[in-house]
Amino acid sequence: MTELNKVVIVGLGLIGGSLAAGLRAAGVCKKIIGVARREETCSQAMSMGIVDQATTDLASIAGELGKGDIIFISVPTLTVGGIVRAIKNSVNGDVIVTDGASVKGSVRKDVKDIYGYFPPNFVLGHPIAGSEQSGVEASNPDLYIGHRVILTPVEENAPAAVAAVRSMWEWVGAEVLEMDVDDHDNVLAATSHLPHVIAFSLVDTLAHDSQNENIFRYAAGGFRDFTRIASSDAIMWRDIMLANKDSVIDAIDLFASNLSRLRAFIDQENATEITGVFTRAKFARDRFTKMLEHRAYSKSMQNSEEKNVVYTVAPGGSVKGKIRVPGDKSISHRSIMLGSLAEGVTHIEGFLEGEDALATLQAFRDMGVVIEGPNKGKVTVHGVGLNGLQAPTGPLYVGNSGTSMRLLSGILAGQTFSSELTGDISLSKRPMNRVANPLREMGAVIDTAEEGRPPMKIHGASKLKAIEYDMPMASAQVKSCLLLAGLYADGASSVTEPAPTRDHTERMLRGFGYSVQREGNKVTVASGGKLTATDIDIPADISSATFFMVAAAICPGSDITLTHVGVNPTRIGVINILTLMGANVELENKREVGGEPVADIRVQYAPLKGIQIPEEQVPLAIDEFPAILIAAACADGKTVLTGAEELRVKETDRIQAMADGLTSLGIDCETKPDGIVVNGGKMTGGSVESFHDHRIAMSFTIAALRASGEIRVNNCANVATSFPNFVELAKKVGISLEVNCS
Ligand code: S3P
Repeated sequence: MTELNKVVIVGLGLIGGSLAAGLRAAGVCKKIIGVARREETCSQAMSMGIVDQATTDLASIAGELGKGDIIFISVPTLTVGGIVRAIKNSVNGDVIVTDGASVKGSVRKDVKDIYGYFPPNFVLGHPIAGSEQSGVEASNPDLYIGHRVILTPVEENAPAAVAAVRSMWEWVGAEVLEMDVDDHDNVLAATSHLPHVIAFSLVDTLAHDSQNENIFRYAAGGFRDFTRIASSDAIMWRDIMLANKDSVIDAIDLFASNLSRLRAFIDQENATEITGVFTRAKFARDRFTKMLEHRAYSKSMQNSEEKNVVYTVAPGGSVKGKIRVPGDKSISHRSIMLGSLAEGVTHIEGFLEGEDALATLQAFRDMGVVIEGPNKGKVTVHGVGLNGLQAPTGPLYVGNSGTSMRLLSGILAGQTFSSELTGDISLSKRPMNRVANPLREMGAVIDTAEEGRPPMKIHGASKLKAIEYDMPMASAQVKSCLLLAGLYADGASSVTEPAPTRDHTERMLRGFGYSVQREGNKVTVASGGKLTATDIDIPADISSATFFMVAAAICPGSDITLTHVGVNPTRIGVINILTLMGANVELENKREVGGEPVADIRVQYAPLKGIQIPEEQVPLAIDEFPAILIAAACADGKTVLTGAEELRVKETDRIQAMADGLTSLGIDCETKPDGIVVNGGKMTGGSVESFHDHRIAMSFTIAALRASGEIRVNNCANVATSFPNFVELAKKVGISLEVNCS
C-alpha cells in the first residue's frame, strides 16, 4: 500500500467522516481536507480532529490539487453528478476522483455525460458499511475494518488510479473487491434495494391498515429485526430506487411472482411445496450466515484472499476414549440422490453434514426436490420419482466434491433438461472424461473444459443406450455414475470392474427396491424400474474413523473405540492393512444396519512394522492412504505401496503431498508413478502443507502424536468437506490441537 498525498472528502456524513477519521488514525495522508455544505459541519469535523482543513467552498481547493491527490465524493447517488459538474473545470486530469454512491450505473452515465468521455482517473466505488447513526458526529475510524468496498472499474480507467483508490480503502482496513458496474447494480438491487423496498412497504402497509392500528404494540423481536431497515434515510433510499430503477424493478417482479406462487401453495394447503420454499430459504440463510463467519466452505474458499486455517498440534500424547465419527460420506451422497429419485418420502439418519454431502443436497434442492434438514443428521427427502427432477435455474455448484460431480453426471445424462456442473479450484483440475466418455458411448452429449476437466455441460433429452462397460480403473464413482445413467437407458447396462470397489450404490438401489445383478466383477441394472422410498440409517464413516485408528496404532498407551462404523467389506482395506502391519484392531458388536455391515472398532497400541501393501487392498483403502502412510512413517522398516496411481488424481496428488510433508518431517521416502516407499523413522516437528486436501490435513494432525516437535498444518479449511467436527473429537480423545487463521 502506498502512502497518500492529499485526500479531499466531499460530504462529511458518516461515510465521508469515517474515511477521514480512519485515514487520520492510520497517519498516511499528507493532508485531509473536508468539504461540507454547512459551516457547522466543517467546524465540527475540525474540532473532532478528523480533518486538517474544512471548507464549504469546493471550488477554492479543487484547483490546488495535483498528481497523487484523491477526491472522494461522498454524497447521495443522485447528487454525485452535481459535484462532478462543479469540479470538472477546476480539477486537473492528474487528480484521482472516486465516489461512494450505492448505484454505479447512474454515476457512470452522469460522469460520461458531463465529460463527454469517461476520465481515466475517475474510479467508481461503493463502500458497503453503515451504522444506525448518521452525520459527522457518528464518524468512526474503525467503520471500515473488515467491511467490503466494491470498486467497479470501467474499461477507460487507468490501472494506477484504481490501485490508488484500492490503497486508500485498504489503509482504513476495508476488504476491496472489484466488480463489473452492471453486476454490482444487479447484485445490490437483489440483496439491498429489494429488502429495503419490502421493509418500507410492509411497515407502511401495516401502519395504514386501520385493523392493524395497534399491531406494533404486540409486535415481537422478529418483526423488529425484519423491519429494522425501514427506519433508514427515506430520501436517500428513494434516490437509490430511482437511480437503479431497471434492476430494482426486475428484482421486485421476480419476488412478486415467487410471492404469489407461495400464496397459491398456502391457498391449496400444499404442505410439501411450502416446506420446499421454507427449507430452501432456511438452508440458504444458514449457509450465508456461516459464510459471513468464514466457517464453512464457500466458493471463494481457495481464493488467494481466503484465510489460511492453520492447525498447530503439540507433539506427543496418546488417544483414549469412545467416540462416534460423523456419517459415511459416500452413503450420505447416495441417500440424497436415490431418495430424490424415489417415489415417496425417505427418512435419513446419520447424514454427514459436511460440505461435500451438503453440495449434493443443494444440487437436488436446485432441481426442485423438497428436502427437510439436515438437523442433527436427520434429513427427510420428498422423492420426485425417476422423471420428476426439474431443470435448475443455473449451474449446479458442487464445491470440492468429486463424488457429487461424477455421480450426478450419470443422473443428469438421463434427464430431458440440460445442466451444468461446476466445482471449486481443486475439483476443476480433476479428470471427468472417465465418466464423460462412457456416458458419451451411451449417447449422452457432454462438453467439458480442456482435457476433460470441469465444468461439465450435459445436454438434455439424449436417448441413452444401454452399455456394457469394462472399466479401465477401479473406481466406484465411475461404476455408480454408469449404473445411475443405466436407470434411464434403453435396456440392461453393466459395468465390469478390474477390482472390487465400494458397492454402496448397488446395496442402496436394492434397498430402494430396485433390482441389481452381480456376477463376479460385473454389475448390471436394467431400466424401466422404479425406486420406492425407504428409511436409511447411515453408519459412521470408516474413512473418518481411520485418523483415530491410526492415531491409536502409532501411539503407546492408546486405546480407542470408534462406535457404529460402517465395515462394508469393500471399505475395510485400512483394517486389513493396519492388521498386516501388526496393529491391534478388534471389531466388536458386529451387526447389519439398513443393508450395511456395522461394528465398533477398538484399536490399542502395538508396535507396527513396515510391509508391502497387497495391491488388491488398494481400492478398498483408497481414501485411507494419507493416514496409512503416517502409520508407515511410524513403523519399523520399509512400507511399499504400489498400484495406487489413482491417488495422484484425488483432491490433490496425494502421493506427492504425503511425500512432501513426510520429507519435511524428516522421514525418508521415495515416490513412484503408482505409489511410494516410506522408510519408518523418527519424525521431527515442522510446517507442512495440506494443499487444501482434507485428508492430508487430518493425517499430518495425528502425525504430531509421534513427532518430536510441534506440527503446523496449513490450509485446513477443507476438513469441513468430510469431517466437520474433527477438531472437537481430536481434542476430546487427547490430541493437543489449536486452530488459527492467518
Ligand atoms: C467414492 C469413490 C472413491 C473415493 C471417493 C468416494 C464414492 O473415488 O475415493 O472419496 O463415493 O464412490 P474413485 O471412484 O475415484 O476411486
